[in-house]
Amino acid sequence: MTRVFSGIQPTGEVHLGNLLGALRNWVRDQHTADSLYCVVDLHALTVPQDPVELRSTTRQLAQLLLAVGIDPAVATLFVQSHVDEHTGLAWIMECTAAVGELRRMTQFKDKSDGASFVSGGLFTYPALMAADILLYDTDHVPVGDDQRQHLELTRDLAIRFNNRYGDTFIVPEATIPPVGARIMDLQQPTRKMSKSADSPQGTIGVLEDLGAVAKKIKRAVTDTDNEVRFDTDAKPGVSNLLSILGACTDRDPASLADDYTQYGPLKADAADAVCAVLEPIQARYAELDADPGAVDDILSGGAAKARAVAGPTLARAREALGLLPAR
Ligand code: TYM
Repeated sequence: MTRVFSGIQPTGEVHLGNLLGALRNWVRDQHTADSLYCVVDLHALTVPQDPVELRSTTRQLAQLLLAVGIDPAVATLFVQSHVDEHTGLAWIMECTAAVGELRRMTQFKDKSDGASFVSGGLFTYPALMAADILLYDTDHVPVGDDQRQHLELTRDLAIRFNNRYGDTFIVPEATIPPVGARIMDLQQPTRKMSKSADSPQGTIGVLEDLGAVAKKIKRAVTDTDNEVRFDTDAKPGVSNLLSILGACTDRDPASLADDYTQYGPLKADAADAVCAVLEPIQARYAELDADPGAVDDILSGGAAKARAVAGPTLARAREALGLLPAR
């Protein structure tokens, strides 16, 4: 059976980009593949975190993944720091990656540029991500477009390790959705929607009040020529609305454009479609609120299942490297 693995950081609120670019595909894949989904709390440590907040956002994110539709009966849901093998293999991946490769990562460049403190972990972040993926003999990694470069590096590291030490890792592939892989900020449509946006008006939270969501979409930046056409370079704002509507309704954004002659109706339909997607997620999230212990139980079962796969893979890598086994 095909193995799928993916992860999401417990920082900031989960937004529409996360949902349409990644999480919806996690839910789809769990029915056809052996799927593992991970709240990557160790990745969040690359910048200083408030301990109380980190603990609660980690649990809340797991709850949200369940609300989105991850079913613990078919998929394995767990927290990265509960499975020690991630850090064990991360060191090996750091020693497999070249400094030049890590320096070329655009995410590192973006996040370190102008920052007053840049941790060593921010630099080696992609080695931990490679470890996450390779530990589970992963075939496919459903992610948004911004993770493409990290996936390429993961493949390069797996191939390099296999060439040096013999076949040890499966070389994984990114699965990036044709629609919704790069949802843009509603106010600055040339920048991707992100947790760290300048203005909250540009980002839609998955748990946000639906009235506020509709308002944000209706106030989204477009342009002045009033022509509805899918052209991400010339018309980034309108194209983003078409992508959002297309991703929510399973339609092709370019052909959707033919249905509209004005921006108003496009915005109204996009707002309705987004609210229709978010409403059941918010209802399930509220139901799960009633029983926080249930989330912890699911995470504990998930970690046990994850360890059972990760342990033998790490042992295989150590053996290939010539590390003396402990007796
Ligand atoms: P993170 O937590 O930033 O984002 C989680 C997922 O959401 C996707 N995404 C988007 N998709 C479309 N439009 C957007 N504007 C948008 N913003 C985010 C991301 O591509 C991602 O799929 N490094 C990863 C977490 C990670 C990981 C892994 C992923 C750690 N280990 C192993 C896969 C496999 C990250 O920071 O994602």
